[in-house]
Amino acid sequence: MKKIQGVNSVRGEVTVPGDKSISHRAVMFSALAEGTTTIEGFLPGADCLSTISCFRKMGIDIEQEGEHVRITGKGWYGLTEPAEVLDVGNSGTTIRLMLGILATQPFHSVLVGDESIARRPMGRVTIPLRQMGADIAGRQNGGFTPLSIRGGNLKGIEYRSPVSSAQVKSAVLLAGLQAEGETVLYEPGLSRDHTERMLRSFGIEVQSFEGGVRVRGGQRLVSPGRIEVPGDISSAAFLLVAAAILPGSHLMIRNVGMNPTRTGIIDVLKEMGADLILYNVRETNGEPVADIEIKHAPLRGIEIGGAIIPRLIDEIPVISVLATQAEGVTVIRDAAELKVKETNRIDTVVAELGKLGADIEPTEDGMIIRGKTRLTGATCDSHGDHRIGMAAAVAALAASGETTIQNTESINVSFPGFFTKLEQTIE
Ligand code: S3P
Repeated sequence: MKKIQGVNSVRGEVTVPGDKSISHRAVMFSALAEGTTTIEGFLPGADCLSTISCFRKMGIDIEQEGEHVRITGKGWYGLTEPAEVLDVGNSGTTIRLMLGILATQPFHSVLVGDESIARRPMGRVTIPLRQMGADIAGRQNGGFTPLSIRGGNLKGIEYRSPVSSAQVKSAVLLAGLQAEGETVLYEPGLSRDHTERMLRSFGIEVQSFEGGVRVRGGQRLVSPGRIEVPGDISSAAFLLVAAAILPGSHLMIRNVGMNPTRTGIIDVLKEMGADLILYNVRETNGEPVADIEIKHAPLRGIEIGGAIIPRLIDEIPVISVLATQAEGVTVIRDAAELKVKETNRIDTVVAELGKLGADIEPTEDGMIIRGKTRLTGATCDSHGDHRIGMAAAVAALAASGETTIQNTESINVSFPGFFTKLEQTIE
């Protein structure tokens, strides 16, 4: 539980914790590679710690202290059959990417997660992995956890994913690396491409083309030695929105990942009128990185839909907060995927921002928000969803009086130290 007072502005210079998507992949690929990998800037949040715990259960030696990780990989087939159940906690990325890896392993494993994971669809990965030859059992015919899998002897497939999902794409690509022949994955819109980029830095050939990706089976991963994880733009988003909506705000956020498949939030902030400048654009381990300066400016409502959606899907809860402080109507559409995130984020965003006085209406595939509204402190709930908890906290900064947010421990999933960071910037 956390109590938050409305504030005037946020100011200063900050960094944010490491990128969650990149941290997961750095651990997984280092475990499967030949050689030792040092990871710097690792996100020590609950989700990525779940990934570490699962690979330790498969016999991989992982030293982790805060943001520093050292992994001695044993090659692709160096994993051992886990004697215990693999518990992914709250992490969809852990379970879906790991299913792709386990589909190639000639042993049996059982995967479970928390009650949110139990509600999230796994058929989107178990269907193509079964087509490749993996033996998968589980609740509702392998559609939900608990799941068990025995892999090996895979055949490459051509798969048309019905959804733009990096987790589906990554699971199929990882299985494809040890399948006979070629594996091709088509997706309706480009999802985040951290897997493709990082695989290349481990010496893998991955071909990206308009509408999909292709890999050849029988490739091995060779450690690049060192991986530097940039700050997570999805975590920076909460601070960016706080600065955009609070008059007099001025923030500089250093070392943020700027992968173009993730920067929808930057496009939206600019289109809504925020005063935002990128500095020092550079590249680390094949991922673009920059410093972001943002100042408050008057905001206007916009329409958000189509190809930009996968580029900002995790930011929609906090974009909804932004929209409550913009003049006019903001329409978010083509975002039905929100219903199968850590919570049904159409329902949870509408419920929680509604409590603070937002004018927000759910639709089939998004929401409609009318601004600008005066928000008033209330009692909100994260529903166990880290991004709902943080979005409510940012809204609380702009609200009059005091807001209580319940179940804030879930924030640890992606942004340990979130409230301390926020307090550092409050004027
Ligand atoms: C992620 C992919 C996205 C995203 C999630 C992290 C990843 O999910 O929402 O937070 O690291 O691959 P989908 O693949 O379901 O779109």
